[in-house]
Amino acid sequence: MKLIIAVIQPHQLPAVKKALYDAQVYKITVSTVLGCGEEKGYHETFRGVDKEVTLLKKIRLEIAVNADFVESTIAAIIKGARTDTVGDGKIFVTGLDDCVRIRTGERGSLAIG
Ligand SMILES: Nc1ncnc2c1ncn2[C@@H]1O[C@H](COP(=O)(O)OP(=O)(O)OP(=O)(O)O)[C@@H](O)[C@H]1O
Ligand SMILES: [Mg+2]
Repeated sequence: MKLIIAVIQPHQLPAVKKALYDAQVYKITVSTVLGCGEEKGYHETFRGVDKEVTLLKKIRLEIAVNADFVESTIAAIIKGARTDTVGDGKIFVTGLDDCVRIRTGERGSLAIG
């Protein structure tokens, strides 16, 4: 089992959701986060003071999958999020020790899907 964490541009979320759906990945957690890649941010005025905003709004996806879904999930995220522009995002893949479905007590691979 792997936990796939992706940070993407907010406006690409609908395309990523569709690509994941098409790849039969239906269970995802989505959060709004602040992030900073190598973009230099933008300027914002608050109470008359101009301020450089270096943390940009991003969407974070968390998707736990069995081994046979890792590559198709990564491909779907890329399909939906890639615009060939800096800041398109990043995908992190990490091992996942266990998963528990609270309702049934099922564990591991059985509980993920
Ligand atoms: N090494 C990292 N550790 C933690 N978060 C990261 C890392 N790299 C990128 N992120 C997160 O992903 C978001 C998008 O990153 P981004 O796409 O700008 O990566 P990048 O390495 O700068 O690539 P690019 O050159 O395509 O912009 C960042 O705003 C940040 O939230
Ligand atoms: Mg960047």
